[in-house]
Amino acid sequence: MPLILVKGKGSVVTDIDGKKYLDFFPGWGVSNVGHCHPKVMSAVRDQIGKLIHVPNNFFHAHQAKLAKEIVRQSFPGLVFFCNSGAEANEAAIKFSRIYGAGKRFEIITTAGSFHGRTTGAMAATGQARIQQGFEPLLPGFRTVPFNDITALRSAITDQTVAVLLELVQGEGGINIATPEYVRELRALCTEKDILLIVDEVQSGMGRTGEMFAYQHYGITPDVMTLAKGLGGGLPIGAMIAKKSIAHIIKPGMHGSTFGGGPVVTKAALGVFKAIQDDKMLKNARVQGLYLMGRLVELMGKYDFIKEVRGLGLMVGMELTIEGKTIFEDCLNNGLIINCTQGKVLRIMPALNVTKKQVDKALFILNKALEKAGSKSAGAS
Ligand SMILES: Cc1ncc(COP(=O)(O)O)c(C=O)c1O
Repeated sequence: MPLILVKGKGSVVTDIDGKKYLDFFPGWGVSNVGHCHPKVMSAVRDQIGKLIHVPNNFFHAHQAKLAKEIVRQSFPGLVFFCNSGAEANEAAIKFSRIYGAGKRFEIITTAGSFHGRTTGAMAATGQARIQQGFEPLLPGFRTVPFNDITALRSAITDQTVAVLLELVQGEGGINIATPEYVRELRALCTEKDILLIVDEVQSGMGRTGEMFAYQHYGITPDVMTLAKGLGGGLPIGAMIAKKSIAHIIKPGMHGSTFGGGPVVTKAALGVFKAIQDDKMLKNARVQGLYLMGRLVELMGKYDFIKEVRGLGLMVGMELTIEGKTIFEDCLNNGLIINCTQGKVLRIMPALNVTKKQVDKALFILNKALEKAGSKSAGAS
């Protein structure tokens, strides 16, 4: 995109010409606490002057504290640190293979999912366009339709060791797992001794109004992967495996030179503190409901809006027309959003976004929709 950003504060970014934009898609879900949050900045500044890297055969306090905080916020388990979402999912894939003990290795994933660009994460991803040209793919993955428990049940074989899924598909177009599906899936995985791996790389860290999306469903996964919002802008990923099974992977079986270094883990501790001290989960729920309500109102005005769906501040507006020009129009008028799957506008502002900023964004979006509406009326 022809956009060179040089500064960011909260939900506002500035480009090289000094033009300001409301950022309603900060870093594809990375800057959940807004750009340059003071708690993240001071954590990073403080650590940079002391120690930047510790090899992962040694302990350091921030890594231990962060692991403890992740576990406190989620479920009893052990945490492995890496540098990205794809790496966190690679760790989960390797963990599954160890869990399968050479007898089971197949992982069931869902259509429309996105798990990353590395070889394993790409093979897990349920979108052919991501995989095209990179065949043959890593074997051991079966993709079934999302939200279809019957299809998932039928895909289970003697070799199945895990199910990997996003509870809210981000890249796939804000597709939300239904409560019944998730409940049945949890029961099925327990019954068959299949690992339930939840990819919270995009939906985690408060994005949906809970710290992790699975917490909306009253279930606990066996394994969870995190990245994006965890580091407040710095690269960090994590895999959490529940305590009763985590010991199956031993020191030396997996690792990462940079994983969980002191700067990024201190930044992540700053992110957790910011989310809690600034009551961002509540704000995400309140502003998310407000934003969705206003988007639903727009459905009465524009017949090319097919559906509005979302959880917290992970919001999508599906159109019957291509969304590219709407996205471009918003950008020209100072609003950054995203368009995925051609027709879904993805709106994911920072968790501390204000009502005033939501109103301003809606004003710009409405203008872009109006323009698209007059064009589509002219074409028909
Ligand atoms: C749900 C999900 N999983 C995994 C990834 C991959 O993360 P990364 O780009 O940090 O490797 C993404 C990135 O968009 C994602 O949305």
